Amino acid sequence: MSKVTLETIFKHRVTQKYLQRSGVNHAVSVAYNAFDLAAERGVSVDLAAKAALLHDMGHYEWYRDGKWDYEEYRRHDIHAIKGAERAHKLLIRLGEDRLVAKEVSLAVLLHTDSYLPFDVEGKRTELQKVVAEADTMDEQPGGMHHYKEMSRQEAIKLLRKLDIKIADYLAGDARHPTTG
Ligand SMILES: [Fe+2]
Repeated sequence: MSKVTLETIFKHRVTQKYLQRSGVNHAVSVAYNAFDLAAERGVSVDLAAKAALLHDMGHYEWYRDGKWDYEEYRRHDIHAIKGAERAHKLLIRLGEDRLVAKEVSLAVLLHTDSYLPFDVEGKRTELQKVVAEADTMDEQPGGMHHYKEMSRQEAIKLLRKLDIKIADYLAGDARHPTTG
């Protein structure tokens, strides 16, 4: 098993703080989607699930005159940049391998290109594609996917299960290195 598990990442106070804003249910669902897509395509399931879990941790709130203003938020949105920075800092703090932290951070940075002045379509790595697609699979109209409920206990239970799936997959991979 990777030394930094999804469960460890999830339980950290920094993750707890930021995932409350963007939605725990969405983060866990996207992590599961990313595992499936990564396994299908021979992409690292460990990196894909970590990037997916953390992809929206850069979400922040934009208030104008004390009121939430979605239009202003969209116009000034840099959540993917903030998320990439936060995910990197968190993973390094947890003792994650530096290359893993960098790859995960880049996948968070490019999970959407709605904030960029250019199109990244066709330029993403396989890992970055997996994370972007896993996110899109869970999206609901009006951003409702950010409001789906999931208790802390349920999230921990599901992430523990996913950690085991990842460990089993990687163990299988080691036994059959050519099946990727
Ligand atoms: Fe998302």
